[in-house]
Amino acid sequence: MSGKIEIPLKDAHRLINPGPVVLITAQYGEKATISTVAWHMPVSSWPKLVAISLAFKRFTLELIEQSQSFTINVPVYSQLKQVTFCGTYSGRNVDKLTEAGYTSKPCSSIDSFFLDECVAHMECSVHSITDTGDHKIVVGEVKSAFADEHLFNEQGVIDINRVHLIHHLGGTHFGILRT
Ligand SMILES: Cc1cc2nc3c(=O)[nH]c(=O)nc-3n(C[C@H](O)[C@H](O)[C@H](O)COP(=O)(O)O)c2cc1C
Repeated sequence: MSGKIEIPLKDAHRLINPGPVVLITAQYGEKATISTVAWHMPVSSWPKLVAISLAFKRFTLELIEQSQSFTINVPVYSQLKQVTFCGTYSGRNVDKLTEAGYTSKPCSSIDSFFLDECVAHMECSVHSITDTGDHKIVVGEVKSAFADEHLFNEQGVIDINRVHLIHHLGGTHFGILRT
């Protein structure tokens, strides 16, 4: 096809950047963190498996490897400031549970916590962890999932005209979906 330009490899993932941005929560003993993650996807229908990609150095990865569990929380656009904060500072140095302004509540299926102000969350146990380049792909088996009662419309999909999830375009650029 004519008229196409080559995209630098460093930006290639932006062509298929998945959405929405999620907040991964993980804890092991007294240690806990909240981390912003844009790279994730469903990978199996049954069992229900989802994958997240975490850089080797993430504190979140360390806690997930130790606890073998994590939670995927779905924030909304009005929380962009908090989402950026959780994606900027490491839980190694900052108490994000206190500083980010979210309310932590205990999960029902795993020994971890979720963020009450997010519109949905999935509680996962680790299925597998695979090295890939400079990240590790953590595949989680979803043990249970919860959402605000009005998140889905009559068609059983997210009502994007009412609920604005955060989509990461790259760098400091974000967007929302609309029909
Ligand atoms: C919009 C956005 C998306 C991000 N996506 C990812 C991601 O997919 N994987 C990853 O490892 N880090 C990602 N990060 C970076 C981590 O969220 C960030 O390094 C965070 O401070 C890690 O916290 P932790 O050390 O407590 O795990 C993202 C950051 C932002 C702002």
